[in-house]
Amino acid sequence: MKRRTPAYINILIVLGLLLVVFYMFAQTSDFLTSKYFLGTAVISIIVVFIQTAIGDLIENEKFKKMTDEEKAAYLAETQIPYFKYLWNGAFKSQSEKEEKDMLIDHGFDGIMELDNQLPKWWLGLFYFGVAYCVLYVTSYFLTDFAHPYKEYDQEYKEQIAAVEDYMKTVPQATIETAKFSEDNVEEGKVIFQTNCVTCHGEGGKGGIGPNLTDGFWINQPEKTLFKNVFYMVENGSKNNPTMQAWGKNGVLTGNDIEKVAAYVYHINQEQAPITPAQGGAAPQGTEAHWEKSN
Ligand code: HEC
Repeated sequence: MKRRTPAYINILIVLGLLLVVFYMFAQTSDFLTSKYFLGTAVISIIVVFIQTAIGDLIENEKFKKMTDEEKAAYLAETQIPYFKYLWNGAFKSQSEKEEKDMLIDHGFDGIMELDNQLPKWWLGLFYFGVAYCVLYVTSYFLTDFAHPYKEYDQEYKEQIAAVEDYMKTVPQATIETAKFSEDNVEEGKVIFQTNCVTCHGEGGKGGIGPNLTDGFWINQPEKTLFKNVFYMVENGSKNNPTMQAWGKNGVLTGNDIEKVAAYVYHINQEQAPITPAQGGAAPQGTEAHWEKSN
């Protein structure tokens, strides 16, 4: 008769598996206090006790039918501590007598074959692997669990939210603090290409919106060119809503406006104007006399 696994070990194994499976789906340890987890754990423990009780009954019946010799051998075996017994079963090679018992009768050329049982730990891992695989594959196809697209979406949203949170803490340039800097021109150009080029044309040569490279300006609310551009991008045009308030509407941050204004300053002051003869839009507004300092 085979020795049975003690109930407390079965309970530990079952609880261990439940922890793995619940964690797999919940991804946090919050489930530990949930009624679903606690309920499943209690029911599983009860099932283990029932299984142990039935096992005890069967064992008693079998024991009664044993010969005295078998009974003695079985009782001696139960004296060995369970883990030592397990260790022996897994790693100790069998005695010669045991080998004889499981010799298979198709030896050839003196080579004999033993009908060894697979080690318990190996079988345990194998069954666990099979169960895990079934669980994983079904949840992969039927639930959101471990779904790469869903996980990607989730992480993407979290990162965007984190970036937005971070942006709220970054000090933003205002019309008072913004300054022209040569270093911002490149980044400003990228912002211009993304947001402004459709109306103001390549290089600011004009189109739906005025030519930004010449000395004529419709709107001149500020005294210096750089601040004037900053003001216009932040507040838009009062006369013509086609030029929206990029800053006030929340499309561009103060730092973005500082950069794009640096680019507009650059194409206006540091490059030759694009004239109508070169494909630029005709001057609009009045000639501006900007104060020099930024
Ligand atoms: C949908 C078209 C459109 C877009 C996009 C646009 N603008 Fe304008 N913008 C205009 C129009 C039209 C005007 C002229 C407004 C007026 O008549 O007062 C203008 C005016 C301006 C002016 C003042 C020019 C002047 O002569 O008074 C500046 C500076 C300017 N835009 C910069 C930008 C920047 C920088 C961007 C990108 C962030 C941008 N605009 C995006 C249409 C646009």
